[in-house]
Amino acid sequence: MTDKTLIAPSILSANFSKLGEEIKAIEEAGADWAHIDVMDGLFVPNITIGPLVVKAIRPLSGLFFDTHLMIEDPVKYVDQFADAGSDMITFHIEACRSPEETIQKIRAKGKKAGVSIKPGTAVSCLDKVLDKVDMVLVMTVEPGFGGQSFMGGMLEKVKEIKKKFNGYIQIDGGVDKKTAKEAITAGVDILVAGTAVFGQEDYAEAIRSLRG
Ligand code: DX5
Ligand code: ZN
Repeated sequence: MTDKTLIAPSILSANFSKLGEEIKAIEEAGADWAHIDVMDGLFVPNITIGPLVVKAIRPLSGLFFDTHLMIEDPVKYVDQFADAGSDMITFHIEACRSPEETIQKIRAKGKKAGVSIKPGTAVSCLDKVLDKVDMVLVMTVEPGFGGQSFMGGMLEKVKEIKKKFNGYIQIDGGVDKKTAKEAITAGVDILVAGTAVFGQEDYAEAIRSLRG
């Protein structure tokens, strides 16, 4: 779908005591998107960022805000994240009673819509929404925490999705220089990377090295 691989650093691995500076730093370092991990302590066993934080960092950056909702009942929070400044809202198919309604709500706010699957979820669960979303996010770790190991088998899902979906394919979790290469070969358009960017001294070099 994309000519070049897009890199979306996950701010989950940023230094939260200076989040504003971190956002500016990845933009200057050549990041394409900022990936924002929203966790509610229910869908995943961790709690992270709410719309207030998105609103606070919005004026500091021109980056596309790629918001990954790892929350139950995501439809309830679409408006708040959209109003806070998210550009794309991605929800989990496993967390959603009515994916169609969730997508409609995202669209009504003029935002891009993404849908995600956890490692244990079959690609076929996406069939009814594939023609309605801009992006599919294939999790390459169990959602909840940064710094986990890449699940290489998930790239089979990427290949399967590519056969029937024309939009962006993103992966998230365990992306580093080596796994990025494998993912790009499998057809991934957008790489989310937390540790592989924010864990490095030189963000620009880290981003460059992931592009392959
Ligand atoms: C995990 C999050 C990821 C995470 C990736 O649930 O969705 O975005 O921050 O972190 P790394 O790149 O360190 O695996
Ligand atoms: Zn994420």
